[in-house]
Amino acid sequence: MDPEIVQAMVGVLEAKDFSTAAHTWRVVLYTRALAEAAGLDDALIHRLTYAAALHDVGKIDVPDEILQKPGPLTPGEFEVMQTHTIRGHERLLAMGEDDPLLLSLVRHHHERWDGTGYPDRLRGDNIPIGPRFFSVIDSFDALTSVRPYRAEIGPDAAERAIDELATLSGTKYCAQAVALFTNLYRRGGLGWILDHFNDTCPVPEYTQLGSLHSTRDPSHATKEKYTLKL
Ligand SMILES: [Fe+2]
Repeated sequence: MDPEIVQAMVGVLEAKDFSTAAHTWRVVLYTRALAEAAGLDDALIHRLTYAAALHDVGKIDVPDEILQKPGPLTPGEFEVMQTHTIRGHERLLAMGEDDPLLLSLVRHHHERWDGTGYPDRLRGDNIPIGPRFFSVIDSFDALTSVRPYRAEIGPDAAERAIDELATLSGTKYCAQAVALFTNLYRRGGLGWILDHFNDTCPVPEYTQLGSLHSTRDPSHATKEKYTLKL
């Protein structure tokens, strides 16, 4: 997909949901780091990072009063929120998008290994591998960032999030995905993203994504040396 279109769609989403900007960038960078750690080729990594950027694009169609609600959602509101997976998938299809990796990640990123997720209640290996890995990333970021319903996070949030992923490995999450993510975190390959892209920092534009420094070079795996090549 054209980076300008990605930027425009994410821009619309950010205008509706102010907590999204840094979240989206973090999951894009976690996705890239994980894909590189898994040894995927550049073309696949490129497609995956765009899919990560657009994973919640269906939230454009969720009413503001639900998206921006400061308190917990009612069951009825949660049902509407869940439709962002299907709405995003439909929106991309209507645009003529045909990359199965992008389409499946948008539709299935809330499926759970034990079949308790949504929208299609897929289970285990029936969940495509992209969203299976991405759900671990998305959950880790949700557990380590400020949300409308959780104003404060402690300094040990990342450790607690890793513990929670371990607890739910093999039930809610694919064990292989948790293992890869945890290994990368333990090797220090992810902390710089969490530290750098906090919820108040200015975030780059998606048109820069193609020239984003690779994290393959360990010299980039620190906050100090991280830069965007414009
Ligand atoms: Fe989502």
